[in-house]
Amino acid sequence: MKAKSKDKTIFVCSECGAKYHKWVGKCSECGAWNSVVEEVIPSVKSLSVSKSVTPPLKIDHLEPPRSIKVSTGIEEIDRVIGGGFLKGSVTLISGNPGIGKSTIALQIANSIHNKKVFYFSAEESPEQLKIRAERLKLSTSSLYVSEELLLENIVHIVENQSPEIVIIDSIQTIYSGQFDSLPGGVLQVRECALKLLNITKARGLITLLIGHITKEGAIAGPKVLEHLVDTVLLLEGDQNNFFRILRCLKNRFGTTKEIGIFEMREDGLHPVKDPSYLFISKKKKHASGSSITVSMEGIRPLLVEIQALTAKSIYSTPQRNSNGIDYRRLTMLLAVLEKRAGISLSTFDIFVNVVGGLKLHDPATDLAVISAILSSYHNKPLPSETAFIGEVGLVGEIRPVRYIDTRINEAVKLGFKKVYVPSISELKTIRSEIRIIKVESVNQLIEKLSQQ
Ligand code: TYD
Ligand code: MG
Repeated sequence: MKAKSKDKTIFVCSECGAKYHKWVGKCSECGAWNSVVEEVIPSVKSLSVSKSVTPPLKIDHLEPPRSIKVSTGIEEIDRVIGGGFLKGSVTLISGNPGIGKSTIALQIANSIHNKKVFYFSAEESPEQLKIRAERLKLSTSSLYVSEELLLENIVHIVENQSPEIVIIDSIQTIYSGQFDSLPGGVLQVRECALKLLNITKARGLITLLIGHITKEGAIAGPKVLEHLVDTVLLLEGDQNNFFRILRCLKNRFGTTKEIGIFEMREDGLHPVKDPSYLFISKKKKHASGSSITVSMEGIRPLLVEIQALTAKSIYSTPQRNSNGIDYRRLTMLLAVLEKRAGISLSTFDIFVNVVGGLKLHDPATDLAVISAILSSYHNKPLPSETAFIGEVGLVGEIRPVRYIDTRINEAVKLGFKKVYVPSISELKTIRSEIRIIKVESVNQLIEKLSQQ
């Protein structure tokens, strides 16, 4: 945007939104490099109090909104967003490029019942969308597509044609003619989102914004985008893998506990009815470096296989590579193994992988990560039909985890015979189908595994 004489210039971090008076190479708030960009604040008139000020209202005099949720027509998605989309709400669908955001948006557009949907496809031409729709075998009679990029035109179309659902694919490719800055920048993303938010609220629309994620895992554009919208959905998975997980990171109108699991097929995303065996490889028995845990994904217990490989490093700085678990968490677990159990891995390259492309956020999976590393290090397979559940603390203690009974139930359901759990777990049910082995520290785990 060109600065007019009275306009002020500030510098904003495009990752976290922190503001600076002058340009800096590294954002001191979030630590990102080269993320600070110039932004012009247009001069504002001094404002006095407007004539019609609404006084605050007593909460007991207010009627609850008669908001009816609009089902997407896809049960697995409805569950994640808490029953459906609310009229007048904006939802951000975020994810890495190529993960399936446009696909899921088109499928929603198709299955949502009896609604006029406008799909603003700034990334693909209507012809490309048509090919995609045919591939997805969609019956798209109430779906209209446009390749309009200019926000003012989009708003004009929405105001004149009255769609009920508006999909913007993507928020990083549309732009407002008010500013000279490039699409995808802090200013454009925020201004476009704000305008769309206002029109959505004013007209009771359902708006879906599609947003890409940067390499670092943040939604490109300022964090304010996440704050502005009502719901943030994240579609994740491994590009080399067919499974996709839909998570809700923020939901003003419901829970964020549920996840949806889908399989990407030739004709789009299909809900996975029974995900029990999805994240366990069909491997030959008795391979070393593989362990199984029960991770709570929202309120759903999932059996997940973790694989580790430790190999003597040929470099002075050994490699650490983690796929599916937080890198810093892995480093912490390795430090605990070194300091508390005397297992020095500093000359080993270590690779950890979660089968099926799942990204684990549940600390209860620590025990399985440690077990897999130990198993690879000693080149000794872990006992079969055994699950490992527990969080590892900094002094090497195994900390209790939530939903321990639910997790054990799931292991029993899938025929597991043994489960390692934290020693201070309070189990509600006494079980005969499964042997429960309580461990209080990493050292005790090592001792018990060596007796196997
Ligand atoms: P897409 O929805 O274009 O991803 P995004 O909008 O997040 O960038 O989907 C990308 C990938 O999905 C693409 O590589 C092709 C694949 N795909 C299928 O496997 N099946 C399908 O039915 C469709 C539409 C896409
Ligand atoms: Mg796309």
